[in-house]
Amino acid sequence: MNSPRKVRIAPSILSADFARLGEQVQQAIAAGAEIIHVDVMDGHFVPNMTVGPLVLKAIRPIAQAAGVLLDVHLMVDKPERLIPAFAQAGAGILTVHVETCPHLHRTIQQIKEVGVKAGVTLNPATPLSMLEEILPEVDLVLVMSVNPGFGGQEYIPASTERIARLRRMLDERGLDQVELEVDGGIKVENIAEVAGAGASLLVIGSAVFNPQGSVGENIRALQEAIR
Ligand code: DX5
Ligand code: ZN
Repeated sequence: MNSPRKVRIAPSILSADFARLGEQVQQAIAAGAEIIHVDVMDGHFVPNMTVGPLVLKAIRPIAQAAGVLLDVHLMVDKPERLIPAFAQAGAGILTVHVETCPHLHRTIQQIKEVGVKAGVTLNPATPLSMLEEILPEVDLVLVMSVNPGFGGQEYIPASTERIARLRRMLDERGLDQVELEVDGGIKVENIAEVAGAGASLLVIGSAVFNPQGSVGENIRALQEAIR
């Protein structure tokens, strides 16, 4: 019997108060976050624009001091162009969308060649079969449980079965070192379902960073709900 899988929360700064971003990141780390998720959007691949390497550089000292990994989610066209800049800015993980990578194998090698962990992700309607050939090459697979572009969206219920199917794909290939990350719409109400389906890393934005509660209280409530 496998030991129960460790499930970690990766707060997404997309919903943080950018007027005090450093403070918010420190609060998430103080509450136990080992990974911080940074959503990069270019206004082309997704209908929204967010941050670039500059912001990663700004929070890097805070993360580095705590040994926290910066998990960068590239929702951009031609992500290969940005790999050097984000690696130099301190990305610990760089995750690319299969939908933006016609040369996915080469792009994953490019990320690993600059010493960064390589992740691959796919939109809710993209078949998991698109991942089959690349699974053995990546450190992380990210299942989008919302349509990428915005925080605060509703979890797509069909994601749970996709997560379970992907967990089976990883198990069948003996790839239990690959992180199974899920991103979008995760709350206290559904976190146990998502973790129970086989996720090991949960990206959570608006349920962590919101005016209703403190970052610490929100993270503790989410961790309680997984137990
Ligand atoms: C959406 C982003 C997600 C988002 C999650 O495109 O990839 O990381 O920030 O935010 P919530 O948890 O609010 O859905
Ligand atoms: Zn994300």
